[in-house]
Amino acid sequence: MKIAIIGADGQLGSDLVRRLTGDALLPLYYPAFDVTRPDEARSTLAAWGPECVINTAAFHRVDECEIHPDKTFAVNATAVRDLAAICREIGCPLVHFSTDYVFDGAKGSPYVEEDAPNPLSVYAVSKLAGEILLRNGWERHFLVRTCGLYGESGCLEKGMNFADRVLDLARHRAPLRVVDDQRVTPTSTRELAAGVDALIRTSAYGLYHLTNEGDCTWYEFARAVLDLSGLEADLRPVSTRRFAARARRPAYSVLENKRAKALGLAPFSPWTEALRAYLAGKGILKAGTDRPIR
Ligand SMILES: NC(=O)c1ccc[n+]([C@@H]2O[C@H](COP(=O)([O-])OP(=O)(O)OC[C@H]3O[C@@H](n4cnc5c(N)ncnc54)[C@H](OP(=O)(O)O)[C@@H]3O)[C@@H](O)[C@H]2O)c1
Repeated sequence: MKIAIIGADGQLGSDLVRRLTGDALLPLYYPAFDVTRPDEARSTLAAWGPECVINTAAFHRVDECEIHPDKTFAVNATAVRDLAAICREIGCPLVHFSTDYVFDGAKGSPYVEEDAPNPLSVYAVSKLAGEILLRNGWERHFLVRTCGLYGESGCLEKGMNFADRVLDLARHRAPLRVVDDQRVTPTSTRELAAGVDALIRTSAYGLYHLTNEGDCTWYEFARAVLDLSGLEADLRPVSTRRFAARARRPAYSVLENKRAKALGLAPFSPWTEALRAYLAGKGILKAGTDRPIR
């Protein structure tokens, strides 16, 4: 299949490029390819003639989004509307990613695709706007909500991914204060890329939740990173209130992969297994930690 990947050097984009080696790929890099410049995007994509476009581009520094709503909406919403129109003109499906943050966390049990969103931040509102513009703009879409991404290539938008940041701070003997009242599912971009690979071979368009299995707080995730890598650190839990971040975040944003399971996609592994695989890939899994940690 001819697949264009927007944001090909991002953490998810890089794993998609690594995963889709059997396909003809057009990797697209910012700023040479900018989703907020639709005329150029249209001519680049139309000239190549993709059979599928995968958009990983986002402005997702959640606290900065609060003070830059115009840029946030340009990348996360208006550009998605334009990409949907371009893909409709070309006649190819569009894969786009959204976030667990579209939910407010009040449910307290895993969110399924049918649950009503109620975003709490500028970032989350912009991502929900992108979802709506995509769903109304082009029916042949795969809209994938995911959560807590980490991958080999790090997160270009946010700097180091969370796991690598924990490792880095521990190695520098810096104190680690991590929120213990936001429950999420850390998700490996490697596994997410495999899920996307399977999804795009179908014509089962629509909204999907795709994350690893299980859940933890960010503090518990940091604890697991340290335990599995055998690093000592001054790690302590703190409350979201104490952190005083600019943007509100849901206290609970665990997603259930309900539609993916119904479609028969290969199940995602528990987040602990995915983290173990990630650390093993970096060559820093502590000997004797190949047992379940929860
Ligand atoms: N990271 C998470 O924890 C998380 C959680 C839930 C959902 N998501 C969603 O998952 C998707 C992928 O996230 P990620 O972590 O892989 O992000 P990432 O590592 O920041 O990658 C995003 C890619 O898009 C590029 N990009 C940024 N602005 C662009 C623009 N205007 N035009 C074209 N490309 C642009 C970036 O280039 P530069 O780096 O050069 O700017 C980068 O290559 C996003 O839609 C995000 O909202 C992420």
